[in-house]
Amino acid sequence: MIRKRLVVLTGAGISAESGIRTFRDMGGLWEEYDVMEVASPEGWAKNPQLVLRFYNERRSQLKNAQPNLAHKTLAEEETNFIVHIITQNVDNLHERAGSSNVLHLHGELTKARSTVNDNSIKDIGYSEINWGDKCEKGFQLRPHIVWFGEAVPAMDEAIKLVRSAEIFAVVGTSLNVYPAAGLLDYVPKCCPIYLIDPNDVGVWRRDVTVIKEKASVGVPVMFEMIKK
Ligand code: APR
Repeated sequence: MIRKRLVVLTGAGISAESGIRTFRDMGGLWEEYDVMEVASPEGWAKNPQLVLRFYNERRSQLKNAQPNLAHKTLAEEETNFIVHIITQNVDNLHERAGSSNVLHLHGELTKARSTVNDNSIKDIGYSEINWGDKCEKGFQLRPHIVWFGEAVPAMDEAIKLVRSAEIFAVVGTSLNVYPAAGLLDYVPKCCPIYLIDPNDVGVWRRDVTVIKEKASVGVPVMFEMIKK
């Protein structure tokens, strides 16, 4: 059997049922923090300790979270499809569910990077980054996260993947944040597009099959539809 290339763009909604809260429905507050205070270069310059504490808490929360049926189904379907996941999430639930090809657009919670050398990145698992923790060259470490206003280095690779899609799916993202949301523009014309979200998401393409369900229900439904 020839496996088709399925490219999936995921966002916070796919991890909601694993207990990781999305923030856009929280009025700009993310687990009680003002998003711009903890996820921007300005916030980091103003109060790095607060930023580190915020991400230390997210990392510790992630340790106790488990992949849900949506993550697991995407991993299991690698037997039937060549699955590439492009995620805006900084959690590692796709990897822990068993997905082999995961591209993180907005960085990864379980990595730290030098504040001076962008290429100096290291795995830290679930341990904390504290003020005074330094890279091997002696510079402060920061979370390996793409903050608001920062460049998204993985975009070129993401665009290539999207252009190569034979089936494209969007799961659990409000498509509010660019450049990630713009990836939809690169989906080839004849490629079917599925969108899974329990709420209305504004999409500018008309050729989209909307599955208005939570990810754990919608992802298995999507595979049933594709296989028909
Ligand atoms: N299953 C699927 N989708 C869900 C579920 C669920 N169980 N629960 C909520 N959603 C949907 C919401 O309806 C919403 O459309 O998930 C989407 C989450 O949207 P956002 O909170 O805006 O998250 P996301 O689109 O991933 O945000 C993009 O912005 O916060 C920054 O860098 C951060 O990567 C993030 C980016």
